[in-house]
This record gives sequence, C-alpha cells and structure tokens, in this order.
Amino acid sequence: LVASFQHKILAGKRVLITAGPTFEAIDPVRGITNLSSGKMGYAIARAAREAGAEVTLVSGPTALPTPHGVRRIDVLSAQQMHDAVMAGVEGQHVFIGVAAVADWRVANASEQKLKKQEGGAPPQLEFVQNADILASVAATTSLSGWPYCVGFAAESENLVEYGAAKRERKGIPLLVGNIGHHTFGQDQNSIVLFDENGHTVLPRADKLTLARQLVSEIGKRLEQRSL
Ligand code: CTP
Ligand code: CA
Repeated sequence: LVASFQHKILAGKRVLITAGPTFEAIDPVRGITNLSSGKMGYAIARAAREAGAEVTLVSGPTALPTPHGVRRIDVLSAQQMHDAVMAGVEGQHVFIGVAAVADWRVANASEQKLKKQEGGAPPQLEFVQNADILASVAATTSLSGWPYCVGFAAESENLVEYGAAKRERKGIPLLVGNIGHHTFGQDQNSIVLFDENGHTVLPRADKLTLARQLVSEIGKRLEQRSL
C-alpha cells in the first residue's frame, strides 16, 4: 500500500534506450558483431519503466525477453538502429545509449553468399564508419534542450581518464563507464558515472541494482534541471 503512494522519479517521462550489439552484414549469411548481451540496456529499460517512464527500447539482436510494459523495436545494423532512434527521438525526455554500436560497417558487402575458391585468396573486406547515434541525438538536444543524453563507454583500460574525455568530446551531461571485458555477457558489473562535477564509482552489483541506481541518478538530475 505504501509503495503505491511513493513518488516515481520518472513518472510522465518518455525514455528512449538503445541496447545490445549491432550486426553488420558481410553477405546474406555472415556478419560482424560484438560480445554485448544487451543485459545492461534491458535492465535499464526495466528500471526506467518501474520508475514510471514510458520506455522505448531499440534493440540489436539479443536472446532476452522484453521487459514488462516496454515498447521494443528490433534492428540488426547500426544504420537501422540510427534510423529507428532518429524516427522516435522527438518528444523524448531522456535518451540512454547503452548499445555497443559497430563503429564500422562493411562497405563492399556482397548481395550473394561469398564462395570459397580452391586455392584462392580470402575476401578483402573494406570498411566505412557508421554514423554516431548518440552524437546525432545530442545534436537535436542542442536545438530543443531535450532529450537529456546519457552515454555509455566500454573501455579496456584507463577508464577514469578515457571516460571523462569521452563525456566532454560527446558533449553530453552524463556518461557511464565500464570495463568491457568485465561486463559483456556478465550478470554483474561495476560502473563509473562521469558528469560535470567529476566521477562517482557504483561498486560491483547485479545489473538490475546498478540500473535502478542509474535511473535514480538520472531522475535527480532531471529534477535539478527543471528547478
Ligand atoms: N555510440 C553510438 N553510435 C555509434 C557509436 C557509439 O550511439 N556509432 C554510442 C554508444 O551507444 C555509447 C557511446 O556512443 O553510448 C560511446 O560509445 P563508444 O564505443 O565507447 O565510443 P566511441 O565514440 O565509438 O569511441 P571508441 O569506440 O573509439 O572508444
Ligand atoms: Ca565505438
């Protein structure tokens, strides 16, 4: 009974989240992806929904069930993820880019399956850089003031230094850093929040616990902004 009267920190807010890996085709049956499981993004979607938000989850390929009450849009490639996000960004209060978006796609992807040649050379793949979804959303924010943008950074070393620099470079108010090989596919993680005041460590815990802490931090920052 008491719980139903508790203030939900994201009540009435619309939250758009990307999660999971992307898949970049080489040919109709092959592609390049990464080790993101989607668990952290899905946990954040669930936590934001619990906090009263209307949540849209743009998801790369994962094996996870859709969190209760969350609208989910499935995509494969970074380009599809970019298009789905840009089509849905208007009217959003918060954007959280959790997806491990491929930085490059195959420029010379084949329409037909590549065939092995007896004694022949392996295929030469060429790459082209994908659009930065978070940067595209942050550019819309600089016009309207919305959505409040949260980025993620999976590093393999120098997390504190790289995280702070990445937040500045991306021009976003909040960036969540973690060590990629400590989080991909794991049920637990530890994260570092970077904002204009410096960084705060959220110690190792299961991803839903961290997701709820992050949602509460985002909610507090939205309240401060509207004062
Ligand atoms: N991101 C994105 N679109 C891309 C690449 C990254 O939206 N094409 C988002 C990720 O979802 C994440 C943030 O940008 O929220 C940071 O991603 P990351 O890979 O750490 O940063 P990059 O700028 O791509 O730098 P690098 O991979 O070289 O460290
Ligand atoms: Ca990247």
